[in-house]
This record gives sequence, structure tokens and C-alpha cells, in this order.
Amino acid sequence: TKTFLTGIQTSGEPHIGNYVGAIKPALAAAESSDTLYFLADYHSLNTVKDPDRLRHNIRSVAATWLACGLDPDRTVIYRQSSVPEVFELSVILSSVTGKGLMNRAHAYKAARDRNAEAGSADLDAGVNMGLFNYPLLMAADILVMETDYVPVGRDQAQHLEYAADIAGSFNHLYGASYSFPIPQGVYNEGDAAVLPGTDGRKMSKSYDNTIPLFLPENRLRKLVRRIPTDSTPVEEPKNPDSSVVFQLLTHFEEPARLAETRKRLEAGGMGWGELKDQLFEAINTEVAPMRVRYERLMEPDSELDGILAAGAVRARERSRRVLAKVRRAVGID
Ligand code: TYM
Repeated sequence: TKTFLTGIQTSGEPHIGNYVGAIKPALAAAESSDTLYFLADYHSLNTVKDPDRLRHNIRSVAATWLACGLDPDRTVIYRQSSVPEVFELSVILSSVTGKGLMNRAHAYKAARDRNAEAGSADLDAGVNMGLFNYPLLMAADILVMETDYVPVGRDQAQHLEYAADIAGSFNHLYGASYSFPIPQGVYNEGDAAVLPGTDGRKMSKSYDNTIPLFLPENRLRKLVRRIPTDSTPVEEPKNPDSSVVFQLLTHFEEPARLAETRKRLEAGGMGWGELKDQLFEAINTEVAPMRVRYERLMEPDSELDGILAAGAVRARERSRRVLAKVRRAVGID
């Protein structure tokens, strides 16, 4: 059977982009395959420097997976930091990874571009090695579990290409003794490629434009109402495809009702306010039952911590086996 693996950074509370882009497709895959879903807590150290915040985020991401329906008997759920083989593999992989490849990574390049725009003499100002090595650590996450498929949002496509590249370099050198399966990204189609945030850019914790998945109902309503729209009067025709509100609605509304909404917007007579109310209702209807489970799991004495501890044991059984083969292949055994 094929193995699916994916991770979410513990850099904040999960948002509806994470839910649509990764959590839902990953949970669908869990019905028929081997699945390992983890919390990328070391990855988030690059941005989260407050230890209490980080502890909270780790529980929050874990609780989100479980509240959304992850069955811990079927799927191994664990913290990246519970699997030291990830870090060992990351060092081994660094010796088969060109620095030039890392120089071309989107997040690193974007940081340099920002410095260039700001007229800074040092293009690497503010870039730590965690950011620079990010794709390498991610490749280790994936390869250490002999992953075949990685369900992620489109924004992770380059990272997936890097993981495949790095696996290829390793296999080329050591393939006589051991080869990693070449991992493949699994992306959901079309609309779900990248969810926009409340300001129209990609929904992302780093842009502060997210709609957190389990916001209390009244705050969710307020946040949806605050999404900026243009000032087209109610009675005039509107272009649904240029509206963030409508784009978000496509992920939560039933197809028939969505088609009807599209028609009403195009014909004129439906205002943005009404569309926002519809979006709020659609999101809330889907998340309300999960929110109840989430809140219960977030209580300090819930089963959450026990589930993560059990997941760590199962994850390490697997990573230890893979690392033993890798060490033998490179001659460090
Ligand atoms: P992260 O934590 O930024 O996001 C987690 C998942 O949510 C998806 N996603 C989105 N999908 C659609 N629209 C959006 N606006 C949106 N924002 C986020 C992401 O594509 C991702 O699937 N590098 C990863 C974490 C990671 C990982 C891994 C993933 C570390 N190691 C190994 C897979 C395998 C990240 O930053 O995801």
C-alpha cells in the first residue's frame, strides 16, 4: 500500500486555507492508505519565538486534525520533534544537496527581494539558517517515512520538487544499497489551488489575513463581514470571480446553491453584505460540530497528549527502520 504523509507548521491556529488545501484531502486519503500526519514544530521555530505560544499552537494544530475527523487508530499523528531521525537524515541529505538549489527556494528568494527593495546592503539581512534550510528539513520529514504521496496546497509545490530532487541525488549515489521512493505532491484541483485571505493575497499566517478555522461563531461572523469589497451598489451586476468572498464560498457552499448565487450576482440585485452572510453561514454550518470537539480537546486534561505520545512511538518505529538502511547505505553504521 502507498504511504501518504503531510505536515502543518505550528505557527498559529489553523485556518480555512489549511483545512481546504491540506486537511480535507489528507483525511480523504486516510480512508484507503497508510497515513502519517505530523506537526512541523521545529519548522515553526523560525517564526514563533514565544515558547508558551508555541506550546499552545502545537496543541491547537493537533486538536484541529482530531476535531476534523482524523482517527488516531488509523493515522499516525505525531510531532516532528518526537522523531530525531528527521534531524539525522537532514544532516545526511545536506551532503547530497547543492547550495544553488537552496538559493533558488521561493521563501529565501522572497526575503532577499524584500531586502533589495528596501535598499539594504545585505540581501541576507534577517534570514536565519532555519529559513535557508527549510526545504531540506522538509525533505527529511518526507523521506524518513518512505513517503509516496504528499497531499498539500499548491504553495508547497516547489518544496515537493526539492524533496524529489534530493531523493534522486541520494539514490544516484547510494542506490546500489538503498533508494528512497520518489515522493509526489498531491494537489487538489482548480479553485482549491490557493485560498485567498481576507485581503485577496494567499491566505497565510505571515500575512495576518487568515480566517481561523475554529473562531467562536460571533467572531467568525465579524471577520467575514470585514472582508473588503468594492462599492458596487446592490442592484448592479457583479463579477463573482473577482470577489474573495465568492471564491471562499466555492469551498463551503453546495454546488446548486453556489450556481444560483453566481447567477444572482451577475444579474444584479444581490449585495456584498448578503453574500458575506451566506459565506458565514456556509462556513459555520460545516465547522460548528468540529468546533465543539476542538474546544473539548483543547482542555488541559483531554486525551490529546496521550494520542500524540502514542503517535510518536509508532512514527519512530518506522523512522528508525528507514534510518538504519540509510546509515548502512552511506557507511555510517
Ligand atoms: P503550512 O503550515 O504553511 O500549511 C499547511 C498546509 O496548508 C496548506 N495551505 C493552503 N492551501 C490552500 N490555500 C492556502 N491559502 C493555504 N495556506 C496553507 C499548505 O499548502 C500546506 O499543505 N512547509 C509546510 C509544512 C511542512 C510539510 C512537511 C508539509 C513541513 N514539512 C512535509 C508536507 C510534508 C508548510 O509550511 O505548511
